Amino acid sequence: MTYAKITGTGSCLPGQPVSNTRLIAERGLDSSDEWIIERTGIKARHLAEPSVCSSDLALVACQKALEAAGRTPGDVDLIIVATSTPDYIFPSTAALLQAKLGIDNGSPAFDVQAVCTGFAYAISIAEKFVRSGSTRCALVVGAEVFSRILDWSDRGTCVLFGDGAGAVVLEGSDEPGILATALHADGSHHGILSVPGQICGGQPTGDPFLRMDGQAVFKYAVRVLAEVGREVVTAAGITVEQVDWLIPHQANIRIIQSTGKKLGIPAEKCIVTVDHHGNTSAASIPLALDESVRSGQIRGGDTVLLEGVGGGFTWGAVLLKL
Ligand code: UT7
Repeated sequence: MTYAKITGTGSCLPGQPVSNTRLIAERGLDSSDEWIIERTGIKARHLAEPSVCSSDLALVACQKALEAAGRTPGDVDLIIVATSTPDYIFPSTAALLQAKLGIDNGSPAFDVQAVCTGFAYAISIAEKFVRSGSTRCALVVGAEVFSRILDWSDRGTCVLFGDGAGAVVLEGSDEPGILATALHADGSHHGILSVPGQICGGQPTGDPFLRMDGQAVFKYAVRVLAEVGREVVTAAGITVEQVDWLIPHQANIRIIQSTGKKLGIPAEKCIVTVDHHGNTSAASIPLALDESVRSGQIRGGDTVLLEGVGGGFTWGAVLLKL
């Protein structure tokens, strides 16, 4: 066994899509459908009911991924959940998910917190477990209810995000799977994107909502996404032309387009779901992957470049053969 390979994907979006127009009307926002589409590419997002937690969305995504892989919960011996909107401070969302899946084999389950780069971090970590032989069948999940940490009076951020979850099953294989990974962080930029407070026992402490310097994040994201994309392509010893699909974090259509242009990857090879998912943070990459696999756009054997960027600042990429 040489590689860790994705053997199944799944995802979950809560409820019906909420259009810009409906969001603006329901939340009384000083915004417009035109502004949101022009500046972000977002037309709709899904928002979870108050009783729905990240682990609930993760559960459905994992059940679908396991079914696609031909595995059952009993086969799973590692769960990693990437989330910035965990159900509790502790236990981890991964532990709660393990219980919801009915897994009682004592295998490890833990969360990873790298905001919108979380899925890239989680799958990179899982790859090491699988390749070392200590894990045979991992569930790697990105799950978020970002609607909980939005300030609905801040039109600069509240129109951008949505809720959802995506999951993959990762197993050892002799066939090429994950070819190269790269993870980065620079904590000195913590101030441009953060949630500086928290909600504990239902009570806000500090400022519990997402705060962002949108333009600073935009510029940083485009630069590092291009850099880290080149880094993994070089590490795998292939060329950018050999990449069949780019799945960047889905934050803004303009960031996706600029990244593709900088990398020399044409628009028709860039997967875009931000228009109907909004920015679902750690869930955005596995959601886009699952949608593309299920629609038949991405097929077995394709070379796929996953790229995340987010608060921390964190960024990372995973190059893989599906
Ligand atoms: O996943 C985490 C990573 N996050 C990101 O990647 C987000 C990166 N940043 C962005 O996507 C963009 O910077 C935004 C979409 C957040 C903002 O777009 P922008 O083109 O940078 O707009 P801006 O912040 O410069 O604001 C331009 C104008 C301002 O009005 P004035 O000062 O020119 O009168 C804003 O107040 O647009 C106004 N504005 C809005 N107008 C209508 C800001 N939000 C809205 C809104 N509706 N929702």
